[in-house]
Amino acid sequence: MCGIVGVLGSHHVSPLLVEGLKRLEYRGYDSAGIATVDNGKLSRRRALGKLVNLSDALVHDPLPGKSGIGHTRWATHGAATTENAHPHQRGRVAVVHNGIIENYRALREFLKERGITPESETDTETVAMLCNWHLDQGLDPVEAAKETVKRLEGAYALCFLFEGEDDLMIAARKGSPLAIGWGAGEMYVGSDALALAPMTNELTYLEEGDIAILRRARADILDENHAPVTRPRRTVSLDASSTDKGGHRHYMSKEIAEQPTTLANALKYYTENREGQHLLEHGVDFTAFDRIVMVACGTASLACFVSKYWFEQIARIPVEIDVASEFRYREPPLNSRTLALFVSQSGETADTLAALRYCKGKAGMILSIVNATESSIARESDLALPILAGPEIGVASTKAFTSQLAVLAALTLQAARQCGTVTAARAQELSDQLRAVPGLVADALTIAPQIHRVAQQLARFDDVLFLGRGAFYPMALEGALKLKEISYIHAEGYASGELKHGPIALIDEDMPVVVLVPHDAMFDKTISNMQEVMARGGKIIMISDARGLSEGGDGVWQRIEMPAAAGPFAPIVYAVPIQQLAYWTAVEKGTDVDQPRNLAKSVTVE
Ligand code: F6R
Repeated sequence: MCGIVGVLGSHHVSPLLVEGLKRLEYRGYDSAGIATVDNGKLSRRRALGKLVNLSDALVHDPLPGKSGIGHTRWATHGAATTENAHPHQRGRVAVVHNGIIENYRALREFLKERGITPESETDTETVAMLCNWHLDQGLDPVEAAKETVKRLEGAYALCFLFEGEDDLMIAARKGSPLAIGWGAGEMYVGSDALALAPMTNELTYLEEGDIAILRRARADILDENHAPVTRPRRTVSLDASSTDKGGHRHYMSKEIAEQPTTLANALKYYTENREGQHLLEHGVDFTAFDRIVMVACGTASLACFVSKYWFEQIARIPVEIDVASEFRYREPPLNSRTLALFVSQSGETADTLAALRYCKGKAGMILSIVNATESSIARESDLALPILAGPEIGVASTKAFTSQLAVLAALTLQAARQCGTVTAARAQELSDQLRAVPGLVADALTIAPQIHRVAQQLARFDDVLFLGRGAFYPMALEGALKLKEISYIHAEGYASGELKHGPIALIDEDMPVVVLVPHDAMFDKTISNMQEVMARGGKIIMISDARGLSEGGDGVWQRIEMPAAAGPFAPIVYAVPIQQLAYWTAVEKGTDVDQPRNLAKSVTVE
């Protein structure tokens, strides 16, 4: 949700800024811009729409300078226009920002009284106006930035660049992520490690309230009270190539295809790697808790929802799930026997982070399951379990979802062992079933041509329903979410048994119904619900295994045959056809699969 990058380099930095922004484009793609200082002169270029428009503009109108900042925007305050694009430059200062300045109206009033009026609709421009006003009052750039930041309320990752200062960049962080990168005689700033991967893997993550005063030779970091502090420098393991498409047409297709590997990585880590085994076996004492409260957003919350069935059925631990945007304001009662569990790919989702902070000091333990191990959510948890899915660039979450499920499944088995809710033989059977999942996912990937054919049909419709029962109910919700976010087809997920309590009124021949129905203990019940749809002229897309299709597939409109996946972890395997159905439908409709309209990958504003 907005990405920022900054470079104090030894050569002209605009290519590096654009490269960094390319890696941050998943955070927003409404507009992009850069500003540089060249022999003291501060200038900028901005372009509406995707980064490619900025790159094109720079070909015709290059921007020299060895220091610079860049931004890719997901619009919050003010429409997606060139005027509202960052960097915002007022007088002698340019600013890029990720977050929301909540008191920007009050600051605007303050500035208006001093004859300074905005030129854009954004909250960010107020920061540039205020900082420039401080410069006009005679403060030097460092003091002006400090004074500016002191007056800001809300969330921000900021980077300032100043006219006349070729060797100065100031970064500030509160509520939005920001890292400093160390180079040989160069210094960098980025929203995440990915942005800086081509330049450096030596990073320092800023903490809440930190201000970093960066020069090529050094970084001085001040804490929220403006006292000098040292923050650890870490070597991160990302390499520059981890963001290519690996020969695929889209990141999403690459990330779907990676799932056998990413799932195997996660499961091996927790079962064969000493560090991972230790985390799983000794990280949480489930006997100390009466219930688990799981909180997340979007797809991550649906991973929680699937695992509710596992934890309750296998480990017999009651689970409450909630979306973070509701949980954080609901004031739910918690106590020391509550385990608070947060799931997040990015580890930076603003609502999830706020919910986590609400639980601090109230719940017995704060546990998180994250992909970005250096993220705020990971760092603020008592224990963070990595999912090891690697960078996920496609805006629609795929491999992170299945890896979240795999870690939640491994955790369920651990909880069941600790709480003694399964026999040794049953525990072995379940862990064999979990170990089989990456292979079954590989088998499921081979049915892509079937799904492609179905997607060609599905793309003609405006509305689609997804049905499932038990843990396939949240999978139906995920199927609908995936389809709507990338194909823009209206889709809803329902528990199969709920259909006749209302949604069945929608059924006609223009409303295809995707039914997720493996041949399991619930098969007959879901098939009855499916028959109710067919009796009303509904078109069924049945996703099942060979046995399910032969026993229940008569008269359905489309059949998708899955490998037989037994046991409670089968939903992980069924993630593949729903992802592919969304993917191929979007391709068929020609939508922007990796960067669907209005969305951004890392939602760092509430
Ligand atoms: C949907 C999707 C989103 C995210 C949600 C949470 O495909 O990707 O719904 O799952 O925004 O993001 P994280 O997991 O980063 O907290």
